[in-house]
Amino acid sequence: MQSDYKKVYEAWQNDPEAFWREAAEPLFWFKPPETIFSAKDGVYGRWFAGAETNTCYNCIDRHVAAGRGAQRALIFDSAMTGEKRFFSFDQLLEEVQAIAAVLQNLGVGKGDRVVIYMPMVPEAIFSMLACARLGAIHSVVFGGFAAHELATRLDDSQAKVVISASCGLEPGRVVPYKPLLDQAVDMAKVKPDCCLVLQRDQLHAALRYEHGDMDFAQAVEVEKVKGTAVACVPVAATDPLYVLYTSGTTGQPKGVVRDNGGHMVALYWSMRNIYGVLPGETFWAASDIGWVVGHSYIVYGPLLAGNATVVFEGKPVGTPDAGTYWRIIQDYDVKSMFTAPTAFRAIRRDDPQGDLIRRYDLSGFRALFLAGERADSETIKWAEQQLNVPVIDHWWQTETGWPVAANPAGLGFLPVKYGSPACPMPGYTVEVVDDAGHPVAAGTLGNIVIKLPLPPGCLVSFWNADERFRSTCLEEFPGYYKTADAGLIDEDGYIFVMARTDDIINCAGHRLSTGAMEEVCAMHPDVAECAVIGVADALKGQIPCGFLVLKHRVERDPRLISREVIDLVRTEIGPVAAFKAVMIVERLPKTRSGKILRGTMQKIADGMPWNMPATIDDPAILDEIRDILRENGYAGNPTMLSA
Ligand code: COA
Ligand code: AMP
Repeated sequence: MQSDYKKVYEAWQNDPEAFWREAAEPLFWFKPPETIFSAKDGVYGRWFAGAETNTCYNCIDRHVAAGRGAQRALIFDSAMTGEKRFFSFDQLLEEVQAIAAVLQNLGVGKGDRVVIYMPMVPEAIFSMLACARLGAIHSVVFGGFAAHELATRLDDSQAKVVISASCGLEPGRVVPYKPLLDQAVDMAKVKPDCCLVLQRDQLHAALRYEHGDMDFAQAVEVEKVKGTAVACVPVAATDPLYVLYTSGTTGQPKGVVRDNGGHMVALYWSMRNIYGVLPGETFWAASDIGWVVGHSYIVYGPLLAGNATVVFEGKPVGTPDAGTYWRIIQDYDVKSMFTAPTAFRAIRRDDPQGDLIRRYDLSGFRALFLAGERADSETIKWAEQQLNVPVIDHWWQTETGWPVAANPAGLGFLPVKYGSPACPMPGYTVEVVDDAGHPVAAGTLGNIVIKLPLPPGCLVSFWNADERFRSTCLEEFPGYYKTADAGLIDEDGYIFVMARTDDIINCAGHRLSTGAMEEVCAMHPDVAECAVIGVADALKGQIPCGFLVLKHRVERDPRLISREVIDLVRTEIGPVAAFKAVMIVERLPKTRSGKILRGTMQKIADGMPWNMPATIDDPAILDEIRDILRENGYAGNPTMLSA
């Protein structure tokens, strides 16, 4: 099939407002958009200012009103417990209304914040939609984060209510959530009025009724029995739908704010045009609702587009084996799937010949989408051969909310270039500039930037922090949004995303801040200074690696100190930080002005060519770093380019 990509991209370029006006038409609006883009509003302008809508209405009620209430909307499959549950749009409406009624009884209304700290259970998705129904703003916190991270988010969002569960399930262990929640509430300066706790069979949590805890299922059941109807609250298209905290360069996470109108228009457009799925078909994003992929493509995108979405609790391998994904695709007739390359590296490691793949009927499966980290060509080619469907690398980030660059299945595929997530989607003008902001020639590495205004669906600001948004994302390259990714655009307009330009690392498809880890390492009483870098890892893409300089006269066993620092990061940030590699060093390499040379250390660790920094204070320290990396099994075969 000839691709319509060029035609559609040019149509957007020629008249962006007409493009987004048309994209908004199939959706329901209490007050339809008249103004499409208002340049004078917000930090860089606002989409659909003056219009009114409700995202929950568009995800559920719109389908029910159109007579599709009996159609399957949500499939829950837990590879951890074997449980399976199915919900039609009618049933989804009942669940969501009951939770909305509970929240309403607790005084939650338009603009109030609700933190959701839950594992991958359908109640988490119902809760997000219930907030949207009331015009309340949800903030989902990933279950792998520990109490301190949760407390930071409670304080920053000033949440009125928390919805949580007694436990999550990781392979081989039950993760009790309630002690972490209690600690977080105790730590937070701004306490929620109430914590609704879903009791799971695997672990019942002790509720602190005196602190306002409530049993989630009991409260919801009361409203179901009453059959309480809760109407969708009209909200401004520009009102926030959610705040999603993501790693920044410090321990203070950034609250990415997404609006209602632009978000639903962009996601709706992406389902058919990028992912190529039609209403009634099943779409599966094997991610977690704690990440942006979960928000956009487990919850909102598929439901807006009238797809059935799969909520999966489990791992690509080990629950019980590397065939789990194929079982899900077969059993629920998944047409299109989205996951992180790490998951496929793990599957390939366990099932290199694809024997498990051939045990399942995947004849209905049409395409696999990968994002969240750089997809290595080896993994893509392996997946293509094994699955015999297009395997599409596409690139985006928490801030953008939907793909910046992709090979669009719905518009017709473009020729594949391995290593590239293909071309910019309508809405995005992507350029590469040097550090001074000058455009570079095709094929030259530089900073990837997106011309303002950002399209509908992208972040509108950081929560209560417009200035931080401006200074972090908009100031360095005036007129552009800084993606903090480095890469190039070739002569055919294909984008190649190579690395982050800040201290964010992608570990197993999870976005982590090495800066935040350094802050925690520095808390240890024996640590004088430290550096955390991301080093290449065959499975997880990158893993964090810490270098500690101990204080003078510390005589305790260094192995014990390393263990304590690892435990501290696990307790403060959470197990998801995957912080397991720590090396004690005499000193850290620095410039004469005292800046730690993390970039050079990373290159040495990865066995990449590196230049001796002209401003280095003492070159001998780099040899020490190389030696200790080698002793610990890192540092491929470093080559110094020039002295
Ligand atoms: N709750 C509590 N703990 C969690 C958690 C959660 N929701 N998610 C992860 N963790 C824990 C893990 O149990 C592990 O703990 P451990 O150190 O005690 O073993 C730790 O955090 C690190 O997890 P992870 O980096 O995911 O490693 P893993 O070895 O458990 O799993 C993969 C490896 C590749 C199977 C897994 O990372 C994976 O499925 N990746 C795909 C990621 C993905 O879908 N990303 C979403 C973006 S599209
Ligand atoms: P997150 O905000 O967690 O989605 O992480 C976003 C970051 O992941 C991006 O800024 C990139 O650094 C990286 N990333 C996401 N998708 C890709 C991709 N397809 N190729 C390379 N890097 C990617």
